Amino acid sequence: MNDDKLTYFIETFGCQMNDRDSQTIGGLLEQAGFSPAEDPLDADVVVVNTCAVRQSAEDKVWSRLGQLAYECRSGNVPVIVLAGCMAQLPQTINRIKQKAPYVSVAVGPGHIHRIPELVHQVLEEPSARLVTAVAPSRTEAHRTESTQMLPEELPRIKVPGVSAYVTIMYGCDNFCSYCIVPFVRGPQVSREPRFIMREVEALVNQGYAEIYLLGQNVNAYGLDLDNETGFAQLLESIDGIPGIQRIRYATSHPRDFTKDMVDTIKRASHICEHFHLPLQSGSNRILKQMHRGYTREDYMELVQYIKEQVPGASVTTDIIVGFPGETDEDFEDTLDLIEQLRLDGAFTFIYSPRAGTAAARMANQIPRKVKSDRLQALVKVQNEITQDINKSLIGTIQEVLIEEPDLRNPQYYRGRTRTNKLVVCTSEGPRPGDLVKVRIEQAGTWHLKGPVPEAGQD
Ligand code: 5AD
Ligand code: SF4
Repeated sequence: MNDDKLTYFIETFGCQMNDRDSQTIGGLLEQAGFSPAEDPLDADVVVVNTCAVRQSAEDKVWSRLGQLAYECRSGNVPVIVLAGCMAQLPQTINRIKQKAPYVSVAVGPGHIHRIPELVHQVLEEPSARLVTAVAPSRTEAHRTESTQMLPEELPRIKVPGVSAYVTIMYGCDNFCSYCIVPFVRGPQVSREPRFIMREVEALVNQGYAEIYLLGQNVNAYGLDLDNETGFAQLLESIDGIPGIQRIRYATSHPRDFTKDMVDTIKRASHICEHFHLPLQSGSNRILKQMHRGYTREDYMELVQYIKEQVPGASVTTDIIVGFPGETDEDFEDTLDLIEQLRLDGAFTFIYSPRAGTAAARMANQIPRKVKSDRLQALVKVQNEITQDINKSLIGTIQEVLIEEPDLRNPQYYRGRTRTNKLVVCTSEGPRPGDLVKVRIEQAGTWHLKGPVPEAGQD
């Protein structure tokens, strides 16, 4: 490493969108002359890229910031940049001013391209007050203000691994009543297809086997553009890019997932047969209060169509328990639907009130204990279903894209099936990036295990 160069370190919390943004932040800082540090305590600049989706995500960031400031007290305190979704919240800026003065820069998700300039400003005038670059606050009543789209063609650091993220759209216009995302990430803005295609082609040429398309509601991609390209057309174009092996996308909205999109996925060669469809609740009453725009019956019909059209497809979901006013009957509806659907997996969350959202203002907030009991009950039911489904795969041969060494047995490798199931490959041959067939011999809730059959064995 060049000793004269200033160094940076990035810590990322939250979703894949934030991982992708952190790659851009790294790219921008390197373009501005910084080099990566091995450890945050050795860095001149530490960027903490934050998440605001639940209180627990915010708590993690505050405790990490406190720890960083404490550990750095004896040495040189770096320039600490708080980036991402939390930076968009007015209460975060107030708290920094009152309780975390060691944070020098706060920059919202739509302004990360300004980080090098803001960092230089602080380096030149270290005693300056907090420097901020955030969008004007957005409310449901003022939906169109504060576009958070980043300029095109920003640099990104090359990350190790077989999969590369490509953001296809920014922001969200749904205003689900529990969700902070439309407030912190602004209105939906889709990227022009030509920029997306160019980025995907470059990543495939760099050797990434899998392209992961990102957006808050990918099924609504293009609805805000003047041209004819919707999500189905975009998928079809990307599927045709020479050399691409696998395509994934997140997150889908069941309301906007059309049959046309399912048919496109069925026809395509490289789009993985995995559908992540956040259900959120199995109660029609709660779905309405959440402003989700579909009923449990609509959701069941969509899953049935997927299963009919795309044989072997896996379907996973997100569920929130303890939304305001959720009764025992509402929760029973969720359990009942989960038992009927028999999905491959579910991410389960305890409802967390987010200041500024409609649900946070609703009466009948559910007590903590009721929420955690419901979560436990739901997890138990879903884990059994997941395990049953995984066990039914014992004896099958699965196509696995090898990703990285298994932490517990570094001679083995971990990878994923097209259906997004984690597989520990118990033979020593395959390496990251290899697409291999694995014979599944063991299965649990969290992963499958098996060897690559020797030639002629299967
Ligand atoms: N409380 C709990 N979970 C939430 N999610 C979004 N907002 C909240 C909230 N306020 C969950 C949803 C979403 C996932 C990414 O996070 O299930 O699909
Ligand atoms: Fe968290 Fe949502 Fe922001 Fe992602 S977009 S970091 S999940 S608040």
